[in-house]
Amino acid sequence: ELPTLMVSPAAPCPSITLTQDDLKKIAAYKAVEHVKSGMVVGLGTGSTAKHAVDRIAELMRQGKLKDIIGIPTSKKTHEQAVSLGIPLSDLDSHPVVDLAIDGADEVDPGLNLVKGRGGSLLREKMVESASKKFIVIVDESKLVDYVGGSRLAMPVEVIPFCWNHSLKRLVSLFAYAGCVGELRKCAETGKASVTDNGNYIIDLYFEKDMGDLNKASDLILRLPGIVEHGMFLGLATSLIVAGVEGITVKT
Ligand code: 5RP
Repeated sequence: ELPTLMVSPAAPCPSITLTQDDLKKIAAYKAVEHVKSGMVVGLGTGSTAKHAVDRIAELMRQGKLKDIIGIPTSKKTHEQAVSLGIPLSDLDSHPVVDLAIDGADEVDPGLNLVKGRGGSLLREKMVESASKKFIVIVDESKLVDYVGGSRLAMPVEVIPFCWNHSLKRLVSLFAYAGCVGELRKCAETGKASVTDNGNYIIDLYFEKDMGDLNKASDLILRLPGIVEHGMFLGLATSLIVAGVEGITVKT
């Protein structure tokens, strides 16, 4: 005769509501587990990456991480890292980065990204394309079926000279995808938002899928006056997604 299995009622569990910022922090902390002493680390920009930089500094203070060199991807991250005492360098002195950790605005199933809604896409792409590993950290709201399909902005950094001409040329490249574009403006001043590199940002919006992303990238970069775009294709080596159900890691 089989023994009767007694199951006691589950203990009442206090319900915890995780905010979007909690999820960003969870993803960031998980990624920082991959940072080891002696590494050159690409420090991302944005509210998610900020948690990673805080965590690296915390582990350094606790003596758990030593001899870290950070390569910041924006002036803002540079300031944060300096205030936390993280030693910094740049790609001129450290052309190979061991590991970069950064957030994203959109991530598709192939780990293609849209970045730059925070305006730092150029330095981010320079640092992350020089990294042996690039871990993307997001909360689950950033997952999309294909990049550019969210109807939210795909940023393009352009030189200020005749930016309106560049805007029109960009939009006409993607007329087939119902593209519209606008100059990004600073909410407080109403003037053009200026990047860390002294450039402007054109935000492109697509009504339909833009198709082959590599082809779209080539077309954009071939236009004179364009500095860089926010599609990060084939750069991410892993993805950490924090959701209310838990953490997912994709490599
Ligand atoms: C900045 C970026 C950011 O990584 C991206 O905008 C995500 O930001 P957040 O972590 O605040 O959601 O690309 O240029």
